[in-house]
Amino acid sequence: MERLQKVIAASGYTSRRKAEELIKTGHVLVNDKLVTELGTKVDSNDVISIDGTIINKDVKFEYYLLNKPRGVISSAHDAEGRTTVVDLIATSARIYPIGRLDYNTTGLILLTNDGEFANHLMHPSFQIEKTYVAKLEGLITGEDIAKLKKGIVIEGRKVEIKRFKLKKKDVEKNTSLVEVTIVEGRNHIIKKLFEKLNLPVNKLSRIGYGFLTIDNLKSGEYRLLSIKEVKKFYSL
Ligand code: URA
Repeated sequence: MERLQKVIAASGYTSRRKAEELIKTGHVLVNDKLVTELGTKVDSNDVISIDGTIINKDVKFEYYLLNKPRGVISSAHDAEGRTTVVDLIATSARIYPIGRLDYNTTGLILLTNDGEFANHLMHPSFQIEKTYVAKLEGLITGEDIAKLKKGIVIEGRKVEIKRFKLKKKDVEKNTSLVEVTIVEGRNHIIKKLFEKLNLPVNKLSRIGYGFLTIDNLKSGEYRLLSIKEVKKFYSL
């Protein structure tokens, strides 16, 4: 571990004194988080950027697709010590999830240490399709489906449904299984959507994200994205 200002100076970007100024005045991000404290220690896996330019280019970017199990938190750290999505991936890189799935939601989540890639995917102008399978408490009606397709308003904004499939209605168990594709990323949005129809979501899984699908990854399994797949996200 080395002091941040020393690593910046060693990269040739600027002098140590100027690096200290840049840190204090809020120009420096470490792993996409603003750092203004001079004593901060970093190592070779930390991505340091100054005004948007990465200065330690030897950091290798990694991109993972994980099938998140239930009961795992979608963040890099948890104050309560619960298992996080990052804990499930064997790497020393400072990866973090791109967006989030609820604690009890399963399925496809991407993780990376490439801040530019994460920001690109999460930018509101980047309308990436996300497909969920939801098990609902209750029997969905034709009227409910028509309302969904027309667009239900949640907290002042309509949720646009790109695709909807009724997969199964179980009259005995009083449940419905649906597949729904949306482009937005508001927290708990699928649960809120079906709550509006008085059909609480019992189980939720994300099976698609853009052109990626969960394929045959079992719960807790993951794979690396190929460079081709990473590049494809930039060309969408
Ligand atoms: N919508 C939800 O309600 N929960 C998720 O985890 C993702 C989308």
